[in-house]
Amino acid sequence: MNGVEEIEKLQGIGPAIAEKLRSSGYDTLESIAVATPVELSEAAEIGAKTAIQIIRAAREQADMGYEKATEIMERRKSVGHISTGSNNLDEVLGGGVETQAITEIFGEFGSGKTQLAHQLSVNVQLPEEKGGLGGKVLYIDTENTFRPERIGQMARAVGLDPGDALENIYVARAYTTDHQMLLAEKAGELVKENFVKLIVVDALMSLFRTEYCGRGELAERQQKLGRHLATLHKLAELHNLAVFVTNHVQSKPDVFFGDPTRPVGGHVLGHSATARIYLRKSEKGSRVAKLIDHPALPPESARFYICKEGIRD
Ligand code: GTP
Ligand code: MG
Repeated sequence: MNGVEEIEKLQGIGPAIAEKLRSSGYDTLESIAVATPVELSEAAEIGAKTAIQIIRAAREQADMGYEKATEIMERRKSVGHISTGSNNLDEVLGGGVETQAITEIFGEFGSGKTQLAHQLSVNVQLPEEKGGLGGKVLYIDTENTFRPERIGQMARAVGLDPGDALENIYVARAYTTDHQMLLAEKAGELVKENFVKLIVVDALMSLFRTEYCGRGELAERQQKLGRHLATLHKLAELHNLAVFVTNHVQSKPDVFFGDPTRPVGGHVLGHSATARIYLRKSEKGSRVAKLIDHPALPPESARFYICKEGIRD
């Protein structure tokens, strides 16, 4: 991907449009080819027709068709892992939370979702040999539960300077679903310039749930949610970073066997997350995380604790 002057070659793109696209994070043929006309016309302030024309041209140029399995294998080799702080959980996840993917953790209140998000925000900053990726964090907070003090505490426990650790985390408080979506859509440039390797959305569904509460609004909500997840997926793939989203559970009264809870969000989310982890409180203050529907790993469970130092076995 050497898109720098490539995108100017596309029919319909002059220097002014190219500049606008680039500043919104559309700086390669691939990123334009996978964009929707609406996204592109908003980013470059162009009409829908021009946007469609540009996307079509990018698709032709970008060679987006089939690829050999060996090429996929090659790309998979660059997948990175972020340690959760618990060896048990890392093992269940095949080495930690993966890049190029969305990992969803769901569980009831107080199960430790936000704590895990904090721990990953610290650990991603560590060098690879210590379970990190030497990268920074973008943290979208919809419930106002991000706590810098807790980051400081966890950072100290892994040998990072608390001040440095906080400098490396860009936090945005989202107030509406549109705001939440925009924060992700506009993230491209920040992500690229700052070597962001983790994007947290805590919690993914809470604003969607309050804004779209009626049955009649469900279709619209799911469509918007699908768009938001697609944006997150693109960021994960284009920048080889990990997306970690938290989710609540709702009770499912028609289930008699097994656990009568399920994550909020329905099918859209179920098919979008690459790994889903179900988290619950267990005996003696421990937490049990179970991997659900992973494409390549067995549905195993791991036990860990939330201690003063953070997440540990
Ligand atoms: P909701 O967002 O309400 O759905 O919950 P959550 O799953 O995000 O829970 P969260 O991660 O906030 O976990 C809260 C639990 O973490 C608390 O009940 C404590 O047990 C534990 N916890 C939080 N902060 C600390 C801390 O500083 N030290 C220790 N030892 N435990 C903590
Ligand atoms: Mg929380």
